[in-house]
Amino acid sequence: MSKPTFYLTTPIYYPSGNMHIGHTYTTVAADTMIRFKKMTGYDTYFLTGTDEHGQKIERKAAEAGVSPQEFVDKIVAETKELWKLMNIEYDDFIRTTEDRHIEIVQKIFRRYYEQGDIYKSEYEGLYCTPCESFWTETQLKDGCCPDCGRPVEKMREESYFFRMSKYQDWMIDYIETHPDFIQPPSRANEMLNNFLRPGLQDLCVSRTSFKWGVPVDFDPAHVVYVWIDALSNYITALGYGTDHDELFRKYWPADVQLVGKEIVRFHTIYWPIMLHALGLPLPKRVFGHGWLLFGDGKMSKSKGNIVYPGPIVERYGVDTLRYYLMREMPFGSDGNYTNEAMLTRMNADLVNDLGNLVSRTVAMIEKYFDGAVPAPGEAQELDRALSDHFEALPGVIEEQMDRLQFSVALSEIWKLVGECNKYIDLTQPWVLGKTEEGKERLKTVLYTLAECIRGIAVHISPTMPSTPPRIFAQLGVADEDLKTWESVRKFGGLKPGTQVKKGEALFPRVDIQKELKALEGGEAPGKQDAKEPDKKAKKEAKPEAKKEEAAPGIATYDDFTKIKLIAAKVVACERVEKSEKLLKETLDVGNGETRTVCSGIAKYYAPEEVTGKTVILVANLAPRKMAGQLSEGMLLCAEDPDGRVRLLTVDGSVAPGSEVS
Ligand code: MSP
Repeated sequence: MSKPTFYLTTPIYYPSGNMHIGHTYTTVAADTMIRFKKMTGYDTYFLTGTDEHGQKIERKAAEAGVSPQEFVDKIVAETKELWKLMNIEYDDFIRTTEDRHIEIVQKIFRRYYEQGDIYKSEYEGLYCTPCESFWTETQLKDGCCPDCGRPVEKMREESYFFRMSKYQDWMIDYIETHPDFIQPPSRANEMLNNFLRPGLQDLCVSRTSFKWGVPVDFDPAHVVYVWIDALSNYITALGYGTDHDELFRKYWPADVQLVGKEIVRFHTIYWPIMLHALGLPLPKRVFGHGWLLFGDGKMSKSKGNIVYPGPIVERYGVDTLRYYLMREMPFGSDGNYTNEAMLTRMNADLVNDLGNLVSRTVAMIEKYFDGAVPAPGEAQELDRALSDHFEALPGVIEEQMDRLQFSVALSEIWKLVGECNKYIDLTQPWVLGKTEEGKERLKTVLYTLAECIRGIAVHISPTMPSTPPRIFAQLGVADEDLKTWESVRKFGGLKPGTQVKKGEALFPRVDIQKELKALEGGEAPGKQDAKEPDKKAKKEAKPEAKKEEAAPGIATYDDFTKIKLIAAKVVACERVEKSEKLLKETLDVGNGETRTVCSGIAKYYAPEEVTGKTVILVANLAPRKMAGQLSEGMLLCAEDPDGRVRLLTVDGSVAPGSEVS
């Protein structure tokens, strides 16, 4: 039986030479979606490309002293490099300067003209060159372009017009009777109320004042401009109107067309009307996503607030950026980008939650079972809760991904990650590992964890394609059947006896303050020279310029940084024999590691009161023996007003291993 098809498009990008992380937002979302659909059994097709014509490019090329074609060729090559860096796997990259596109645009234009959808007239209006849009007086904002805020120019010239007004009622009816067509639904209301119901004006579709466009073959003084040229890429790429239109017949209508919110109008009014006039079906869904904002506005070169993906990928890996983009803001809403939020998410979700889970589990299988995944025994309630969660997850993810709710899908996956970490706290493998009976139980615990990690690796693969191979390598999963979507519908695929192998930490733990300093000290993605988007960030933060001098009795910052303080979770606690003062704590210090520390708090705490607390450990104190026990560090304490020693704990859920700074 043939697979169902799934055709997805991104907008075609202006080759502006300035691709920032806002641009990668649409492509990363599209790539995530397409990988998900492919994994879940669809025959997929993913189109992206570049929108290369127009007066702006013509002017820029002239400024640079090159031909428009030379100008765009260079930038298109950089754009393709960027998609490689971002791990974007498209099926086709259409350029509007390619013959295969130009020929069909001319054919479509002629057909519209011959069937009376296009007529010749004269246009007078206020024109925004950067946005390539005409505006009426009332649409202007403070006398400037309502989209970009830049000044507009008065223009008058002979033009061809598309009779949009003729299709207005049909368009209103279509949107009203196809509630899924425009997503999110609030954008449908915006289109109806702000543009369609007040009355649709005919659209200027050709220009004579510049040459860099598709010539109208029956009237060569005109070039086809923006709309019919750019929007038709979605079908010219599939071979529409040629003798080789197999792809078009197979994939059109598109299942999803992803666009940023500022171009929803073009894609849900002009584009559908253009298609309808050709007698073609409309895309099933057009999804208008929000903007990634930076500080107080949309990222743009003119505002000087551009963040480039290169340095972030270089420092933290492409999956970190992809995860952040898809996780941070609900798809459809705007969200603010800050380096701090990105690093905080990386440390919390990737390093602590996922990275730690994998390294702890693999380390424990190595320690207790010589690296062979143990066969599980009879499942108890706790184990069943996890395996049920594992089996319920695919259904939840399919539903969220169908709604393009990437961030919800990821947070659902991270619920399973969180449940696994909680399961470790509750089952206390380090205690089980001490007795023979405990070790029997430990087999089930570690099998359950390893199997859940396999499932998590499959689930994250569309968003973070480079990470699962590294997890599978550590888990020893080589069988391709165990990496499929089908294989995670049922718990228990992982074969007992599989040999695990501890590898490098999946994600580097970073000191956020240090990284921020490095990013903002000239290597900051936001501060980088706009002309050099690919300039690499150095690996290390710059050293402090000058050493501080310390006054007597005062610690310099350098002195302070010699002491390594970390948050640690007490996973077990007992009295030290032959000592009235000491309790011995086993601490989870992150990355699957534990430490033993003795503290003089036995008079003030019963062992069970201490277990479960997250405390502050002086982690780089030289180890020493106390009452015959090795103590590897010291817990911070303070006296209360009654002279009782209290452990210093943390506010909120700080993960074990987090540095105190
Ligand atoms: N060439 C037109 C599209 C024509 S489609 C027939 C265009 N190009 S663009 O390069 O300006 O934008 C391409 C995509 O990047 C758009 O979906 C746009 O919304 C998206 N983004 C550009 N900056 C963005 C953010 N700061 N945040 C999120 N997406 C944004 O528009």
